[in-house]
Amino acid sequence: MTHSALSTDALRVIVTEIAEELAESDDRGRVASYIPQLACIDPQQFALSVVTPDGDVINAGDADTPFSIQSVSKVFTLAVALGQMGESLWSRVGREPSGDPFNSIVQLEHEQGIPRNPFINAGAIAVTDAVLSGYEPREAIGLIVEFIRYTAGDDTIMIDETVARSEEATGYRNTALANFMRDFGNLTCDPAMTLGVYYHQCAVAMTARQLALAGRFLAYDGCLAPGGSRVISGRMARQINALMLTCGHYDGSGEFAFRVGLPGKSGVGGAILAVAPGRASIGCWSPGLNAVGNSQLASRALEMLADRTGWSVFAPH
Ligand code: DON
Repeated sequence: MTHSALSTDALRVIVTEIAEELAESDDRGRVASYIPQLACIDPQQFALSVVTPDGDVINAGDADTPFSIQSVSKVFTLAVALGQMGESLWSRVGREPSGDPFNSIVQLEHEQGIPRNPFINAGAIAVTDAVLSGYEPREAIGLIVEFIRYTAGDDTIMIDETVARSEEATGYRNTALANFMRDFGNLTCDPAMTLGVYYHQCAVAMTARQLALAGRFLAYDGCLAPGGSRVISGRMARQINALMLTCGHYDGSGEFAFRVGLPGKSGVGGAILAVAPGRASIGCWSPGLNAVGNSQLASRALEMLADRTGWSVFAPH
């Protein structure tokens, strides 16, 4: 069944019921422990926020509690990089699902330092390096944060410096990935500088409401609303959505596409940004992760939302 004319009230009932049903969950996964600052987050938290084409924002749970967006930031940095250099970015990073964990190093050697896609850590570090090229690190961080603030329509969005430093102090594997790519000639900046920018983009703190608002440009073909201000070209928005669908959940991407049927990007802080093109942008957050590092309850919530609304990129509009 499709619900092309699902009212805001009907959607509010669906969102509220999902949050109430999931509040009963015992199995919430485990919070990420490899970044010390994330290990101490309360796993009982949950938020779901949906923005409609009319700009209504429907919230349930802890929708105004900030969390670390982590890998969800890779979507925004990719949009900034594509805006800066267009198609030439694709000489440095591929567009294939990896089928490997987000921080895997093995594929990188086989593929001569060209990461499989922009959402695994190596790929995101290469994209961040491309944004940094020609700028000071603080300027590149500024470009990324300004982009996020613009798309969310919210100038209060900030970086959590404690999280950035916590990751910088323990990011041995990312250091290995960056140095490896530098050796293959696929990083142009000093790896330490590139990683500094990368950790700061991952440490952006946002609420589910802000995340849903920031995702609108992907739901509306590059614009902030249907017929609204353009952020990126429609073609680029569609390409980013395709990558989110195929690569947004690492080695859980096939399962997410199967269960939810919407482009989505997860982060190790427990956030997922998902979009139902033409219909909604969705921010969801719960800190406990499943075995492949994606939020357990947020994945489940999005599956329930897709089921109950009929939203799917595979269903007729
Ligand atoms: O580089 C890292 O490992 C983290 N800053 C981001 C990883 C992440 O969010 C993976 N997502 N599920």
